[in-house]
Amino acid sequence: MAASTIHRVSILKKEIIHLGYDIKDHIINTIVDTKPSSTYAIITDTNIKKYGHLDEYSDGFLQVLAAKRPESRLLTYVVSPGEANKNRQTKAAIEDFLLENGCTRDTLIIAIGGGVIGDMIGFVAATFMRGVRVIQIPTTLLAMVDSSVGGKTAIDTPLGKNFIGAFWQPEYIFVDIKFLTTLPERQFINGMGEVIKTAAIWNEDEFTRLEEYSKTFLSVIRNRKPDTTVDLSPLLDHIIKLVLESIKVKAEVVSKDEREGGLRNLLNFGHTIGHAIEAILTPQALHGECVSIGAIKEAELARYLGILSPVAVARLSKSFASYGLPISLDDEIIKTKIDGKVCPVDQLLKLMAVDKKNDGSKKKVVLLKRIGECYEPRASYVNDDDLRFILTDEVIVSPFVENFPETVITPPGSKSISNRALILASLGKGACEIKNLLHSDDTEHMLNAIAQLNAADISWKNNGESIIVNGNGGKLTACSNELYLGNAGTASRFLTSVAILVSSSPENDSVVLTGNSRMKERPIGSLVNSLVENGVSIEYLGKTGSLPLKIKANNNFKGGRIELGATISSQYVSSILMCAPYAQNPVTLALVGGKPISELYIDMTISMMKSFGIEVTKSQTEPYTYHIPTGSYTNPPVYVVESDASSATYPLALSAMTGTTCTIPNIGSTSLQGDSRFATDVLEPMGCKVLQTETSTTVIGPTRGNLKPLPLIDMEPMTDAFLTASVVAAIATDDNGTKTNIVGIANQRVKECNRIKAMVEELSKFGVNSRELPDGIEISGVNINQLKNPGEEGVFTYDDHRVAMSFSLLAGFCDSGVLIQGRSCTSKTWPGWWDILSNKFNIKISGFEKNLKTKAKNIRKKKNGNKSIIIIGMRGAGKSTISKWIAETLGFKILDLDHYFESKLGDIKSWVESNGWPAFREKESEFFLEATELFSTDYVISTGGGIVEGEECRNLLNTYKDEGGIVLHLHRNIDETISFLNKDEVRPAYLEEISKVWERRKPLYQACSNYYFYSPHCSNDREFKLFRSSFSKFINKITGKIELNLNFGKSFFVCLTYEDLSEHLNKIEDISEGCTAIELRLDHLKDYSLEYVSDQLSLLRTYSSLPIIATIRTKEQGGKFPDEDFKKIESLIDLVFKMGIDILDLELSLPDGLLDSSMSRRGFTKVLGSHHDFSGKFKWDNIEWENKYNQAVNLDVDIIKFVGTATDFNDNFLLEIFREKHTAKPFIAINMGEKGKLSRVINSFLTPVTSSLLPFAAAPGQLDIKQINQYLSEIGGLEKKEFYVAGSPIGHSRSPALHNVCFKSLGLPHTFNVFETDDVDQLYSKIMTKPNLGGIAITIPLKLDILKYITELSTSAELIKAVNTVIPLGEGKFKGDNTDWVGIKESFYKSGFPEINNVNVAGLVVGAGGTSRAAIFALKSMGVKKIYILNRTVSKLVDIKNSFPEDYNIEVLQSVKDAKKAETVSLVVNCIPSDKPIDEFVLDCYKQILAKENVHSFDPVLLEAAYKPLVTSVMKLANDEFDWKVIPGTSMLVNQGIAQFKIWNGIAPSYKRAINAVNQN
Ligand SMILES: NC(=O)c1ccc[n+]([C@@H]2O[C@H](COP(=O)([O-])OP(=O)(O)OC[C@H]3O[C@@H](n4cnc5c(N)ncnc54)[C@H](O)[C@@H]3O)[C@@H](O)[C@H]2O)c1
Ligand SMILES: [Zn+2]
Repeated sequence: MAASTIHRVSILKKEIIHLGYDIKDHIINTIVDTKPSSTYAIITDTNIKKYGHLDEYSDGFLQVLAAKRPESRLLTYVVSPGEANKNRQTKAAIEDFLLENGCTRDTLIIAIGGGVIGDMIGFVAATFMRGVRVIQIPTTLLAMVDSSVGGKTAIDTPLGKNFIGAFWQPEYIFVDIKFLTTLPERQFINGMGEVIKTAAIWNEDEFTRLEEYSKTFLSVIRNRKPDTTVDLSPLLDHIIKLVLESIKVKAEVVSKDEREGGLRNLLNFGHTIGHAIEAILTPQALHGECVSIGAIKEAELARYLGILSPVAVARLSKSFASYGLPISLDDEIIKTKIDGKVCPVDQLLKLMAVDKKNDGSKKKVVLLKRIGECYEPRASYVNDDDLRFILTDEVIVSPFVENFPETVITPPGSKSISNRALILASLGKGACEIKNLLHSDDTEHMLNAIAQLNAADISWKNNGESIIVNGNGGKLTACSNELYLGNAGTASRFLTSVAILVSSSPENDSVVLTGNSRMKERPIGSLVNSLVENGVSIEYLGKTGSLPLKIKANNNFKGGRIELGATISSQYVSSILMCAPYAQNPVTLALVGGKPISELYIDMTISMMKSFGIEVTKSQTEPYTYHIPTGSYTNPPVYVVESDASSATYPLALSAMTGTTCTIPNIGSTSLQGDSRFATDVLEPMGCKVLQTETSTTVIGPTRGNLKPLPLIDMEPMTDAFLTASVVAAIATDDNGTKTNIVGIANQRVKECNRIKAMVEELSKFGVNSRELPDGIEISGVNINQLKNPGEEGVFTYDDHRVAMSFSLLAGFCDSGVLIQGRSCTSKTWPGWWDILSNKFNIKISGFEKNLKTKAKNIRKKKNGNKSIIIIGMRGAGKSTISKWIAETLGFKILDLDHYFESKLGDIKSWVESNGWPAFREKESEFFLEATELFSTDYVISTGGGIVEGEECRNLLNTYKDEGGIVLHLHRNIDETISFLNKDEVRPAYLEEISKVWERRKPLYQACSNYYFYSPHCSNDREFKLFRSSFSKFINKITGKIELNLNFGKSFFVCLTYEDLSEHLNKIEDISEGCTAIELRLDHLKDYSLEYVSDQLSLLRTYSSLPIIATIRTKEQGGKFPDEDFKKIESLIDLVFKMGIDILDLELSLPDGLLDSSMSRRGFTKVLGSHHDFSGKFKWDNIEWENKYNQAVNLDVDIIKFVGTATDFNDNFLLEIFREKHTAKPFIAINMGEKGKLSRVINSFLTPVTSSLLPFAAAPGQLDIKQINQYLSEIGGLEKKEFYVAGSPIGHSRSPALHNVCFKSLGLPHTFNVFETDDVDQLYSKIMTKPNLGGIAITIPLKLDILKYITELSTSAELIKAVNTVIPLGEGKFKGDNTDWVGIKESFYKSGFPEINNVNVAGLVVGAGGTSRAAIFALKSMGVKKIYILNRTVSKLVDIKNSFPEDYNIEVLQSVKDAKKAETVSLVVNCIPSDKPIDEFVLDCYKQILAKENVHSFDPVLLEAAYKPLVTSVMKLANDEFDWKVIPGTSMLVNQGIAQFKIWNGIAPSYKRAINAVNQN
């Protein structure tokens, strides 16, 4: 199919669909030649414009018009993309545009775009001037194959999608596949949903073709160029064909039924359910994705109704899945995008009731009969019960009826036999029809490989029920591409031997076997070694011992004696056995190293080889040795794959339990499957009649209630069947009360779940007692009439198919329906199990769903609670120190994995020397798993640096984090690590260069962790302390202990645009004065490497205690970051989340996929959705903003930030109108530019500001806080207020200085004065009645007296029993607060004391006045576990102690002995006056306390409450004599003042400014 060919398809008898690749010239010329018009109007969206398509078309048109119709004009109009814009407003805007441009009835509208454009523009055309001509040029796959064809046009309303529209056929539909080169991956895949659906209802050949292409498809469309476009050439023919075939079907169906009489409904396969799902999940899920899920559900419905075969459903799911589409709501593909939304069955049913194809509310679904054909030529009526069953994952199994039908059941084929049959038949000669083949990943990969190696021709018969393998007798040729085997273990092992039989082809002289990353870790070394020793050439392309393998063609497989270690996998043995006949000499295969495992499977292979004509003999002389003659397999004409014997146990057990007859027609006495003995070894002794032929088994149960228990049965040869046996035993009783004992099944503890435990637990819900035995289970059966109903909770299935199927049997014997949760797990081996119960056994089963929360939006990360935290990182990254910090912050204990290892096996170094690294890694993972289980809560588990080198450990780490645990990657600059380690003589040296080790491990650490902490360089003690407290904050953040509260009120943030922060660190506090948050523009940094960015963010976090906003501004949005480098943006976003940064700025113009995935990974980080319009083109009444706002709300960002550009002063007023109407989220909205300054003044939440200390403003028109406040007060937006300090004596008070200086520097118009009085009534009448009172700072002696005028108290003031801050609430009401405690707490934190909420830290408060009470409150709020109090007179202390709650854990020091006995104290607040000498008793106690040895990783600190003199005698004592850190009283004074300032004004001055003001004079 040549690319430039133009294919024409007729619809409604006109050949108006033209399809080809790169056919722009044809399109334009055809339009201009055949559709004369005065005005051609192209309407498209911004994405189409962005990718250059619009320019190409408008240039092309202008040229052709100039040549052919110079009198005609071209108009273009661009709208915003996306479903959110397919609305009345946009339609009206387009119409206005056409009207303003004088368009008349002869206008030809050309819609270039996806379905949104096609639908909406089609509708514009249908109604403009009562209808004008339209041409559809679809640009998405979905639009090409579906929406552009058929003439349906529509727009959405808030009440529903596509509710308003018309049928309006286009003049032409031009499909240029070239558009797809720019289509994003997710959109591409989305379109495949419709393509596969269409083939499924109409065209089996095309469906089969699609199956063949799936693998190449995904690899091609995922292979993006740096500009995100894709090269379709490797797939071009395929894509042209698939689009063409889809269009043909749609055109044919539409032509037969233009206005949806019935036939056209078939196209709605998957849509009845799909639309309902879409209604809930939109916009996060796309149409094609929902259709894919809906199609599977509707196919399952057809299967449930007995119309469609299980094989067809499997084929359908495989096909959708292989094109990257989700096939269930639990599919990861969709789960990560829908942000916790759920689809409750009742809501789905309600939504289906309003489906347009219904008659009234009777629901209709398109039922598939087989692939390529529908059950009826229209949608069929279905009832709600059946739909409900299909849509739920829980079932209620009703009591079994008395007279059961006699049944013949063929369970799905055995996996082992299916795989062997495929290998044998394709190596054999002639056609072999294989029946009952299992459809699984393994067989799928096997079939694909067989075809690619030309081993056999493969075709399907009976709609995929059987498969015909026409073998080439062992002649295979090398294929040009690699054989990708996913994670299919059996296939990889069998094919390794098969590949050595390959001859070279013109395309290739070797075969490469490869798989997914998991496969690349799985061992295959023993098999490869045996083959290589036999002269075969196999090369490892990756890790030695695993795939990928390169196997040379024309190998010399000489045969003779081959030795193989068979204690690892019997599949190695089978692999060689099956290929051995094709060696040059007869093979003697000797299994060495002891008894081979799973000998039954070796026997199975040998027996199957015999069915294909080759007889293997066992050696008479050597154990485990086999002779295989040379030869070629002769294919039997038909080979029926035996059903899976484990699956067969369920129907057999059902007949045993119900006293009926059931036959399995293809498992008999000759079966080699262990579980085939179930009937004879278990059911027969329990009282059933078993009739077995060589190939069939029939079980006839005794009359109900007459099954006998089995005192002892060893189920070792059929362990998987023990669950079935257990439920039979549950109703097996005799007169002696015999219990059934099942042994030999210890391996069942480590299957999908601990099955023995699970059975014990679930049986007990039925009133059946059982208990675990060391290698089994003991069951005390009960009388069949005495089974209890498990009740509301129902049976839990542990996601284990065998648990589910077993209990579905027992359930029917209760006297009312039994609920079974999680039924879909049976799909692992028997997807149709429930259908069998319903159809063959006539058992009534109904769907059930517990109450789901309707719209569980905003499902955020759960708090970590006490779940253990795992630390990974290089040696020397600071794991021990930081583990200790975490332990101290959270109250955890520490487990060092290396120590754990050594406690079990001794010194690691010597252990490795004698056992080697691989053995070490194995042990390590074993211990790691053990540790995470034993110490699953309250531990910091610190791991060795190499933990990520072992695959097992990596899996464990990944599982841990996927299940919500924290895996924290610690890192510091690698050069620092190196120099640290070089200084370290205790630990053994690295063998490799450290930097190389780092390079290798870096991606592994990254992949295995969900949090990341980068330790910046600290050059002095202060930096170290800052760093330490920033770490505590980080831990509190990522564990969810402290969540950022966005109730900021009036607030500002400053933007840092440095290339490198490290030179400006000391300015940061001043720059961010008055701010509530601080923004770092990552796009301005000089280096975008993760290491550099994390260093910068860490530095900022260390030097500023404000919440950080991390912003990556793209060029298009006014920043420096390259617009199209989404990969890098994604990795930076990920870094921001991993670092637990407070707020991420996420541009709403990023691709949807990136937005969705970011939202789902945000953890505790808040997301600010931003959008900028630099052009000034979009006024605030433009629909564009409305749409962006909706997008942001739908995404569920936490804050929305819109930045427009004012070209006119009036733009500010338009903005305010917009602001007023949009209150769903905290909202920042401003205009850039000189003319937009007003908006910055009015915006009140997180206004971006600059600082005079910054070299330049981050945006045009940006103001600083001072300017904003000044302007605001000048225009009346900020009332001038009076503040006072009141009390006596207060002549020396520094409060006026502090506040007045800060008012001035922040541009606030207020004043702060002194009101000296000791009479609270006077204070009230003179000051508190002032209408413009801002607040009062209360000092002695009024702190208690003031209470009489206070109408509301803060918690702190209430407990401290004193008010130092009065806040007027209006209407004569006043709130009383106390900020002394904040002053104390902040002083400690500012000095570098870490946040220690959970450590056993003790504190001491000396003194018994009001400040002491504040100090006690402060210490408690810091998490101090025990508070000692000390005073000259003890009696006062007792009162204090009694007035605080019990949990303050206050202890009065009554004697020096008490002080001596006391715990180590880390925090002391001295609240005794400084003007008198210290009392002897107090001093002695002080000395005892100060002399105690420090037991923590942080230094103890003493805070002096008095600020005169600067250095008090207590400070001297602590510092000089005991080397304690001390904090002077000014610190408390200033911090207290700042706290007041913040309460009154909403913003805070810098500490530096406040202390300077206090220290003046
Ligand atoms: N009329 C019908 O019969 C019919 C049938 C099915 C669906 N629909 C409608 O179609 C709409 C969905 O259509 P859609 O999936 O095409 O969505 P869409 O139009 O929103 O396009 C998807 C995204 O891809 C972008 N895009 C389009 N072409 C591109 C290209 N070549 N390169 C890069 N980006 C490109 C778009 O700007 C948009 O962001 C829905 O509104 C649905 O209701 C209608
Ligand atoms: Zn559709």
